[in-house]
Amino acid sequence: MHSCLSLAATFLALVSLATLSTAERLVGRVLIYSRTLEYRHDSIPTAIQALKEKGPSYNILFDATEDPKLFTDENLSQYDALFFLHTTGDVLNGTNLAAFQKYLDLGGNFVGVHAASACLYTTPFYGKELGAWFTYHPVLQNATVNVLDHSHPSTSMLPDRWHIQEEMYNFDSDPRKLGAIVLLSADESTYVDTAPHAQQGTPHPSAWYQERGAGIQAGGVAGRSFYTSLGHLNETWQDNLFMSHVMGGLSWAIESNTTRFSDPDAQVGSTEISNYTIAVSSTATSSTPTASATSTANSKSSGQSLSLTPFALLSSASAIALGALALLA
Ligand SMILES: *[C@@H]1O[C@H](CO)[C@@H](O)[C@H](O)[C@H]1NC(C)=O
Ligand SMILES: *[C@@H]1O[C@H](CO)[C@@H](O)[C@H](O)[C@H]1NC(C)=O
Ligand SMILES: *[C@@H]1O[C@H](CO)[C@@H](O)[C@H](O)[C@H]1NC(C)=O
Ligand SMILES: *[C@@H]1O[C@H](CO)[C@@H](O)[C@H](O)[C@H]1NC(C)=O
Ligand SMILES: *[C@@H]1O[C@H](CO)[C@@H](O)[C@H](O)[C@H]1NC(C)=O
Ligand SMILES: *[C@@H]1O[C@H](CO)[C@@H](O)[C@H](O)[C@H]1NC(C)=O
Repeated sequence: MHSCLSLAATFLALVSLATLSTAERLVGRVLIYSRTLEYRHDSIPTAIQALKEKGPSYNILFDATEDPKLFTDENLSQYDALFFLHTTGDVLNGTNLAAFQKYLDLGGNFVGVHAASACLYTTPFYGKELGAWFTYHPVLQNATVNVLDHSHPSTSMLPDRWHIQEEMYNFDSDPRKLGAIVLLSADESTYVDTAPHAQQGTPHPSAWYQERGAGIQAGGVAGRSFYTSLGHLNETWQDNLFMSHVMGGLSWAIESNTTRFSDPDAQVGSTEISNYTIAVSSTATSSTPTASATSTANSKSSGQSLSLTPFALLSSASAIALGALALLA
C-alpha cells in the first residue's frame, strides 16, 4: 500500500515536472491564395479544408484568401510561405505583384499546386519562382508517376511508381534550367497524350523544388520553392498519400531558415507561438508520413525545443510507473 502511494506521488511529480518543461515554439504561418479569373477548380474548398485539417500535425497555421488586397508588404511579411492553390489568370495587379516580389526578396517561401502554374503568365518573376508554366493537359485519366528522388520530405513516403488519377500537365519550359530538382516525372507510356511537349525536358517533370527560388531580384534573399502538378480532384485531397506529399513539400519550404519560423532575425515570417502540441508517443513511428514529417519539421527548427503533449507524457509516465510496479511485484 505504502509503495503504491509513493509510486502515485512519483507519477504525479513526473507529470507536473514534464508539463512545466514544455517549451514554446513558433507556428509556421501560411497564406493560401486561390483566386481564379479563368478556369475554376471545384476542388478548391475541399483542398482548403484538407490543408487546414492537416495543419496541426505539421505545426502549420493556414489563412485562406481570394482577395488580392492582402498582398501588401505588411500583411505578407507575417507569413512563412505563400501557397498558390489552383490560381488561374492574372490574379494580382502591379501593386499586389510589387508586394509579392518584395516578400520573395526578403526570404519568403513559395508553394504552388496544380493550376498555380496557370496564372500570371506575363510576370517573369512568377514564372521563375514557380519553375515552369502549364501549357495543356490531356483528359483526366489514370496514370503513373515515377519518384525520381525519395530523399525529399514530399516524396519520402511515396512508392517508386505512384498510380494516380490526374490531369497530366505539360509545361512550356524545363524547370531544371532554372536549377529546380525534379522529384516526380510522368510516365508517358501509362496514359494517352497525343502531343507531349519536348520543351519541358525529360524525364517529363510533374513536381519539383528549388532550394533557392529563382524569382528573387539581384541582392535578394532567396527562400525555398516547391511545386506539384497533382491535385485536380476532390478525391485527391481526400487521399492521405497525396496530403503527405503536399504537406511534406510545404513543411520543407518553411524550413528554409529564411523566415522567422527558424530564424528570429529573418525579415519575414510569423512570430506567433504555436498552440499545437506535438504528438510524440511510443506508437508514433516514422513509417507514418505525418509523424515523420512532424518530427522532421521540429528537429530542423533551430532554437525551438520539442514540446511534448501532456497526453504523451502521461503515457510515458504511466509506462514508467507500470514498469516500476512490475519490478516490485
Ligand atoms: C468537390 O467538392 C465540392 C465541395 O467541396 C463540391 O461542390 C463539388 O461538387 C465536388 N466536385 C465533384 C466533381 O464532386
Ligand atoms: C491593385 O489592386 C489594389 C487592391 O488590391 C489597389 O489598391 C491598387 O490601386 C491596384 N493597383 C493598380 C496598379 O491597379
Ligand atoms: C492580412 O490582412 C487581412 C485583411 O486585412 C487580415 O484579415 C489578416 O489577419 C492579415 N494577416 C496577418 C497575418 O496579419
Ligand atoms: C483508375 O484507378 C482507380 C484507382 O485509383 C480505379 O478505381 C479505376 O478503376 C481506374 N480506372 C481505369 C479506367 O482504369
Ligand atoms: C538551417 O539552419 C540549421 C541550423 O543552423 C542548419 O543545420 C541547416 O542546414 C539550415 N538549413 C538550411 C536550408 O540552410
Ligand atoms: C492560440 O490561442 C490563442 C488563444 O486562444 C489565440 O488568440 C491565438 O490566435 C492562437 N494562436 C495560434 C497560432 O493558433
